[in-house]
Amino acid sequence: MRIRGRGFVIAFMGLCLATLAALTPPAHALDNGVALTPPMGWNSWNKFACKGVNEQVVRAAADAMAANGMKDAGYQYIVIDDCWQTSRDAQGNIVADKDKFPSGIKAVADYVHSKGLKFGIYTDAGAMTCAKRPGSIGHEYQDAQQYANWGVDYLKEDWCNTLPGQSSESSYTLMREALKATGRPILFSICEWGSTKPWLWAGPVGNMWRSTGDIQDCWDCKKQWGGNGVVQILDQLAPIYSYAGPGHWNDPDMLEVGNGGMTQEENRAHFGMWAMLSAPLLAGNDLEHMTPAIKEILLNKEVIAVDQDTLGQQARRVKQQNGLEVWSKELADGGRAVALLNRSDAPATIEATWQEIGYPAKTSAAVRDLWAMKDLGQKTGGYSATVPSHGMVMVKVEP
Ligand code: GLA
Repeated sequence: MRIRGRGFVIAFMGLCLATLAALTPPAHALDNGVALTPPMGWNSWNKFACKGVNEQVVRAAADAMAANGMKDAGYQYIVIDDCWQTSRDAQGNIVADKDKFPSGIKAVADYVHSKGLKFGIYTDAGAMTCAKRPGSIGHEYQDAQQYANWGVDYLKEDWCNTLPGQSSESSYTLMREALKATGRPILFSICEWGSTKPWLWAGPVGNMWRSTGDIQDCWDCKKQWGGNGVVQILDQLAPIYSYAGPGHWNDPDMLEVGNGGMTQEENRAHFGMWAMLSAPLLAGNDLEHMTPAIKEILLNKEVIAVDQDTLGQQARRVKQQNGLEVWSKELADGGRAVALLNRSDAPATIEATWQEIGYPAKTSAAVRDLWAMKDLGQKTGGYSATVPSHGMVMVKVEP
């Protein structure tokens, strides 16, 4: 009995340490206490871009998020992207666009906070943002303090119109220091499109870094200037899985789910694969006017739980052949989330064997379909399913 008792205490202490380890960012992550799981929220850019963004749109997104189940599902940040700013005043303070934000940024931030949500904003490390609004270069400390005074909880910093030879690592480190000096915990989102391999240096600098060019609202497409469809992004994220973890995430860009360019199947696969990648889940659609089918995707709690798993492992692609792929993500409880992804143009059967996902071949494991939220029973050796074209089946496997 005594031995068993001691064993229990040791096991219990082990569990406590494991939990603590999962909740504490490793030494190579930015230690600002935020984004220990991938950030979830909404960003104005993908749907509203420069022309459409204004305070009504932002308030409506906050209203929708607070009321439609998203907040309860874990969505938290309401982020204004480019075009909220117009100029600087005589003291160099950044000035908000009065036509778009007549109440000022502080009032919008207060409104978002009043809904129990957090507020984010956007700047650029160069002289001008990508939409040619003023950037932060030379004003980093002044801007960071202004954001903190407004109650900003999240800052995205872009990389347009930088100086020739400007160092991304130094520029983003400067803004990290400026944010730190405010004393307010502000999530820091680095956006240099993967151009200087941020996964190699940005762990201690930002909480997330864009790893690719801008996402396009399409399953399979590539623009000359670097825009990417969903599958192009997946291919770029696959090799850099080891760099993501609590407090510091690869960012495959904001979601296009619900913006009209993809089928329901493609939208589901896009969202499910972002969850497999431990990606920030930033909805990029019109939250006020979304269809029930889109809501069903954005609100699937079991898929979101895979994204938010505290171990913070990004999925690995363990098999690929003729557009049929198996991805596996290790979870904190020892289970695996497994995605069977069909990139081909016809329905196909895809199998994941237990060996491919890191278990002995003869293991018997409980399998649960996460999109259907349905137990599929015990399976030995592996699991296979017919997957629609441009679709995915996502299961949880628990030996
Ligand atoms: C860049 C970024 C986008 C968006 C726009 C705004 O293209 O990568 O995510 O912020 O700028 O102009």
